[in-house]
Amino acid sequence: MFKLAHISDIHLGPLPDLSFRELASKRITGFVNWHRHRRNHLVGDTLNLLMDEIERVDPDHLAITGDLVNLASSREIEIMTAWLKEAGEPENISIVPGNHDAYVPGAYEKTTKAWYPYMRGERGPAEWNEDFHCYPYLRVRGPVALVGCSTAVATPPFAASGYFGSRQARETVNLLRAAGEAGLFRVVMIHHPPIRGATSMYKRMLGIRRFAATISAGGAELVLHGHTHLNTVYSLKGQIKPVPVVGIASASQGRGGKKPPAGFNLFFISGSPGQWNLVRERFELTMDGRSVTLVETTRF
Ligand SMILES: [Fe+2]
Ligand SMILES: [Fe+2]
Repeated sequence: MFKLAHISDIHLGPLPDLSFRELASKRITGFVNWHRHRRNHLVGDTLNLLMDEIERVDPDHLAITGDLVNLASSREIEIMTAWLKEAGEPENISIVPGNHDAYVPGAYEKTTKAWYPYMRGERGPAEWNEDFHCYPYLRVRGPVALVGCSTAVATPPFAASGYFGSRQARETVNLLRAAGEAGLFRVVMIHHPPIRGATSMYKRMLGIRRFAATISAGGAELVLHGHTHLNTVYSLKGQIKPVPVVGIASASQGRGGKKPPAGFNLFFISGSPGQWNLVRERFELTMDGRSVTLVETTRF
């Protein structure tokens, strides 16, 4: 039995002091968003409660599907890197980036470099370098293959869209096929929901059809995503049966916001190729916002 925990959209706060130079350019739009929509509800305490409960249920691995920071300033990346060090060893945590981790040109490189140990695939070089395509990556942990894809691009002001291109699609198919031949349970991690209509026009991912084709051509057992800050279960066409596509609320969302409160998914993976058993337990912040409890069990 392999236990995989899934959180997303940490949007780590508090908002650091920004220099005037950082406030110039498009970061100002993110700053405004934070104050209007996030300041009251995305606070560190909730994330701590979540991590306490994750520690208690003792997963074998933790998947984080993007939006770790808000504006991708150097200070935020630094704080997040320190938080990750506290959270666990890089071999036990896998990250894919979100649109907030690539907020301005250059941020994508900065976050990828800082968090590379958490995204380093089996064939990745020991140290990150600019010429190396980090994504898709493949990490094998027990009976599980984690395939990390990136949709992060620096988008125009107020846009939050993502992109899944043809190079990644080709390489992802190859990784999924190889992992399938090796008899592994394949989990694909991607920030944006690869489902039409799951998010608004300006927040959607370009390449949804390409991603669906990737899953049906390569084969997968589970897709994890974030971005919507919602607890959702969709599915994509698989090779033998439909592939569950699971989203989760923001890991920092307190009670009383428009979006559902913070939570995490805990997947129990057992069985063997062709006969996998997958059970998902969803944990959520309690009504009083003081603890985290099991609220839903799904058998796929
Ligand atoms: Fe987000
Ligand atoms: Fe996002």
